[in-house]
Amino acid sequence: MLTETATATIEPAFEIDNFHVTDSDLPAFVDMPFENINELHLDHPGANDPEYRKRRDYIASLAKKFRETGVVTDVNYTDEEQGIWQIVAGHLDELHAKRANKFYLQAKKDLGISNDHIPQLTEMNRRLKELTGFRLAPVEGLVDTRAFLSWLSYRTMLSTQYIRHHSRPEYTPEPDIVHEAIGHIPMFTNPDFADFSQFIGHGARMATDKQIEELGRLYWFTVEFGLTEENGDIKAYGAGLLSSYGELEYAFGDKVERKPFDLEEVINTSYDYSDMQPVLFVIPSYSELKEVTRRYIERIAR
Ligand SMILES: [Fe+2]
Repeated sequence: MLTETATATIEPAFEIDNFHVTDSDLPAFVDMPFENINELHLDHPGANDPEYRKRRDYIASLAKKFRETGVVTDVNYTDEEQGIWQIVAGHLDELHAKRANKFYLQAKKDLGISNDHIPQLTEMNRRLKELTGFRLAPVEGLVDTRAFLSWLSYRTMLSTQYIRHHSRPEYTPEPDIVHEAIGHIPMFTNPDFADFSQFIGHGARMATDKQIEELGRLYWFTVEFGLTEENGDIKAYGAGLLSSYGELEYAFGDKVERKPFDLEEVINTSYDYSDMQPVLFVIPSYSELKEVTRRYIERIAR
């Protein structure tokens, strides 16, 4: 009589601390869906400006070149582009003094991000490498959620280099260098925030489609629109807030419900990216956010 011998396969539980990523693990950019991501929608302020479109195409060609060579090319920004930066950065700086979190304010100084000129991704990469090992890879537009978030797993954020249209310096319907350099980049110098971002990236690589939607919400209500407690006060750390005059003022007004951060609630709260955010979540600290996210991602892995 044959006896069935079951070979028990004992899968070790997924633990984020055992999940190491090296440069040799980096997937090829060519595997990602990059087609037509620099197309402008008709309601974009620069959609009917042939000069702007030509310039966008040129800057897009630099991002494409990066995918072939792995080398980030500095953009030789024009005086007009520098002028847009100076207007927006100067105005945001005034609002940040009151609304931005303390870590961010110091990080912006440490990174040498000033109101005078647009910082280059190469400059930012040198500093980020020393501080948290995060890095920026140029991209010419919005990529899909799974692809974008997955790159965070390699401590890499895909970053645009072009700037918004001069006709509306206060507004952009899409990420641009103001959003990246003033909104996102300083926070990546915080070790807990950098780890937390990477955990989202690990999750995106393992997630089902439903879980990608949840991770997208977690990203939205933290990395983009997060608020944090700070000495009994509430401050902004999300890039969507820190890079937009309108959103930053609105976030602290009467029309917005500011709720304590609850991961389950966050991943189940839908949002409308084209409108002001009616609900925002306040984290107690970046280390707490990191730990809650660690447990959530380990759950996704099971
Ligand atoms: Fe963003």
